[in-house]
Amino acid sequence: MADNGKRVIIVTGGSRGIGRAICVAFAGNDTEVFFNYFSPGDPEGEKTAAAETEKMIAEAGGTGKGLWADIASRDETNAFFDQVLEEAGHIDVLVNNAGITKDALIVRMKEADWDAVLNVNLKGPFNCIQIIGKIMMKQRHGRIINIASIVGVTGNAGQANYVASKAGIIGLTKTAAKELAPRGVTVNAVAPGFIVTDMTAVVPEKAREAMLGQIPMGRPGQAEDIAGVVTFLASEQAAYITGQVIHVSGGMYM
Ligand code: NAI
Repeated sequence: MADNGKRVIIVTGGSRGIGRAICVAFAGNDTEVFFNYFSPGDPEGEKTAAAETEKMIAEAGGTGKGLWADIASRDETNAFFDQVLEEAGHIDVLVNNAGITKDALIVRMKEADWDAVLNVNLKGPFNCIQIIGKIMMKQRHGRIINIASIVGVTGNAGQANYVASKAGIIGLTKTAAKELAPRGVTVNAVAPGFIVTDMTAVVPEKAREAMLGQIPMGRPGQAEDIAGVVTFLASEQAAYITGQVIHVSGGMYM
């Protein structure tokens, strides 16, 4: 196993949206960024998007590589991390960003949609933290940043599966923070409000207007607004912050 001597960053779901912005924000000549991505409904489109993220990392002066891997699958996640370790030798930062929605009111929600969202949004980060946590504990350093959501705190009609997964990730963050703190590993969550990405592009116009009306700053957020906070939480300046949930929502939640 070679060690590349660089700061190694892993971002789940880096092909688009917030994950892509996080990959690009970390890009630099002293870092190496690995990200995974997965979209069984549109594999070609997702691969093209991943290649675009790699290009953007390179344009920002960094090195980055995207690999197809489903974080809900323990085997695929193990294989993804094995490849990163094979190429980079160690891991400094893990960003659990990948997430999906399958919205419906509780009384109409299909069991398969409940399971799918919980498997990707909550079991996925658990898989990653369990695998990487062991490595970071041995290294005696590491940063884990989980992307939660404002709705994990407030609740949201029509999103019981998604909200439960995001409330769960906040509990997972605090528990992992307590377990890993003695070994020099910090674990924090960032809770975005309404951010312009493919995920929110499908929100109907009326619901979008209603959400914008709840944002004191009067505008939706950009993926870069989230990426800036994530890179801060991974920086030396944030060394004494752990177990926290930082809301980035234009004041939507106070
Ligand atoms: P997006 O839909 O634009 O991108 C999702 C990314 O996750 C893609 O790169 C996709 O390949 C990856 N992905 C999906 N399923 C995966 C799986 N099983 N394994 C590996 N990768 C998978 O989403 P967006 O908006 O960028 O969201 C990123 C995170 O931010 C998610 O966790 C989401 O819940 C959270 N968030 C987003 C908000 C928003 O307003 N866009 C608000 C609050 C939270």
